[in-house]
Amino acid sequence: MSTATEKDSQTADPYFQSLFADRIGGADYGKGTEIYKFEKIKRAKRKAMADFPDRHLLDFGIGENDAMADDKVRQLMAAEVDKVENRGYADNGVIEYKEAAARFMDRNFGVKLDAATQVNHCIGSKPAYAMLPACFINPGDVTLMTVPGYPVAGTHTRYYGGEVFKLPLLSENNFLPDLDAVPDDIYRRTKILVLNYPNSPTGATATSEFFEKVVALAKEKEFVVVQDAAHIMLTFDGKPTSFLETPGAMDVGVEVHSMSKGYDMIGWRMGFVCGHERIVAAFSDVKDNSDSGQFIATQKAAAAALDDDSIPTRIREKYLRRMRKLVAVLKDCGFECEVPGGTYFLYAKSPSGTKSGETFAAAEDATRHLIENFGIVTVPWDDAGSFLRFSVTYVAETEAAEDALMEETKKRLGDAGLVW
Ligand SMILES: Cc1ncc(COP(=O)(O)O)c(C=O)c1O
Repeated sequence: MSTATEKDSQTADPYFQSLFADRIGGADYGKGTEIYKFEKIKRAKRKAMADFPDRHLLDFGIGENDAMADDKVRQLMAAEVDKVENRGYADNGVIEYKEAAARFMDRNFGVKLDAATQVNHCIGSKPAYAMLPACFINPGDVTLMTVPGYPVAGTHTRYYGGEVFKLPLLSENNFLPDLDAVPDDIYRRTKILVLNYPNSPTGATATSEFFEKVVALAKEKEFVVVQDAAHIMLTFDGKPTSFLETPGAMDVGVEVHSMSKGYDMIGWRMGFVCGHERIVAAFSDVKDNSDSGQFIATQKAAAAALDDDSIPTRIREKYLRRMRKLVAVLKDCGFECEVPGGTYFLYAKSPSGTKSGETFAAAEDATRHLIENFGIVTVPWDDAGSFLRFSVTYVAETEAAEDALMEETKKRLGDAGLVW
């Protein structure tokens, strides 16, 4: 048993408590009591499993592909691991991957890139969003970020003393930001506009008119555009569209691609930044001072994946099939929804309560209710209206297993008696 003095020394602040930087909370770091959304979901799942141990959770909350990378890619990786020439630091990457990325952009979008100067790899796209603000943001500068959205570029903007100006994505505007609503004094300080189409979590795709407007505005107001294309190969409403296809886009920004979603390579940590040569160079300089590049064997395996369009085609077909089934079930149960333009997320208006009199003030309440009482996991979004995000990345080995899961979802949602 520990003595009172030992306990005090275990709970007392370490001598360095006052040394933590303000950007992560300063001397209060580690003392917050706020519980984050995903932790709340975890807790509700634990409660549901304890209360109903025999009931399977129907987990639509997972935002990660359910399958392993393609067989061919895994076999190539196994071979590359054994090659001595792949052993060292990769620094800013091998040309084989950059060239495969350039071929991918040309084949899929007709975008011509110089592999040596207009493409660089990243260890997954997430670190690219941490690094791009380092290229542009001085204290007081602004990054325009869409909400709901992937927050990493905004977090790092703040780390550098910059500000985030939020652009709400509303259904009445087809989940495109209203760029005319940004005040001029904000535009004067804006250095970066971050976009993400196909959009997570709303599933919206952008029109070419919208991208054209973005290019014109970037030139007029003088900011750079960072377009997050993580879900681009999961486009359902037509041919995938790159921002860089837009006339003039190469003059104003970069697009960031990921191997995670479209190639089932989430854990492999590969992506690339492409577009304006000078922005790619700045990104490469910051990156060179932050990491030493992805394992060369991984880069070569990812290059082979990028060269094989059958991989994203197969993954897209699977998630589109699952999406269609989910939309049919949700519509039957009262949700207003359609197959989204892209992504494996369905973003549907959250119910306001149940026929039995339960009321939900926010999507977060609806999520908790569905997990705890019906074993259905979704992710709530309350940033711009109240929505539930259903992901079709649930584990189901066969189409029959998908159908069985959908039947059970329909039954449980029916029992839930949701109202809007
Ligand atoms: C919209 C969006 N952008 C970027 C990422 C980061 O993906 P990765 O770092 O795996 O390339 C994600 C991952 O969830 C995402 O949803």
